[in-house]
Amino acid sequence: MEPGVTALVVDLRGKVFPAVGAAPARQALGSVRFSVRTGERVAIVGPSGCGKTTLLNIVAGLDDDFEGRIRRPDPPIGYVFQEPRLLPWRTVADNLRFVLGPVPDAEARIARALAEVELPDAAPVYASRLSLGMARRVALARAIVVRPSLVLLDEPFVSLDQPTSERLRLLVLDLLERHGITTLLVTHDLREATMLAERILVLSAAPGRLLGEIAVALGSPARRDAATVEAEHARLRAAARALAAEAAELST
Ligand SMILES: Nc1ncnc2c1ncn2[C@@H]1O[C@H](COP(=O)(O)OP(=O)(O)OP(=O)(O)O)[C@@H](O)[C@H]1O
Ligand SMILES: [Mg+2]
Repeated sequence: MEPGVTALVVDLRGKVFPAVGAAPARQALGSVRFSVRTGERVAIVGPSGCGKTTLLNIVAGLDDDFEGRIRRPDPPIGYVFQEPRLLPWRTVADNLRFVLGPVPDAEARIARALAEVELPDAAPVYASRLSLGMARRVALARAIVVRPSLVLLDEPFVSLDQPTSERLRLLVLDLLERHGITTLLVTHDLREATMLAERILVLSAAPGRLLGEIAVALGSPARRDAATVEAEHARLRAAARALAAEAAELST
């Protein structure tokens, strides 16, 4: 993978969930067009229900019922779902083995991936026995163990207590930076996006369409400094509000 080369092109014109029984058809997304370069970390922010998970499913290739076109990097793509979705009655190691398939160095790669998410002793533990924070880390290990060309992260820090989510954010930042992993992160939390991403795409309320994008002006060390992140967050919040206000004006 060559850094700086376009890795992903999303040219989505719209997504409608068809009517099922008494439930009417639902427009889930409008126009969303952007690209991501190899090694870049991009966040998508937008309010609950605006179509963020739907968009990631389309990017991942799990949903091909949409208007538009997606150009993906070569597989594999790692996907950390909004819910960890581990196989509960399998061990942690089995959950990773399952996505890795029969590669000769599987055991070493599994051990390395678990060490990277700071769970070096979790291999024999049944997935049903993990706390949510641990399950999230295993889901992350499962996404990186395949050496993905692109990682998709869907709200990976929600429903965790404050210290746990903060620690996990730092862990994810370290991991993504260390390996230069091309990343598309979805979150409703602009502060989180500020800390982790180099560029932020702002979606409208449902049906989500791209309002615009904002560059994050933080170097790598600054991302670990809470006060600096907070100051940049405040600046970006104003920029995101301006985008939303501008869009509201255009539509009236
Ligand atoms: N399979 C489906 N069939 C019909 N409607 C769906 C389906 N999946 C999602 N939707 C609807 O599409 C819209 C977007 O849902 P989606 O889960 O993508 O939002 P989201 O931005 O990820 O929300 P959240 O922030 O709460 O995770 C919602 O109105 C949702 O009810
Ligand atoms: Mg979602």
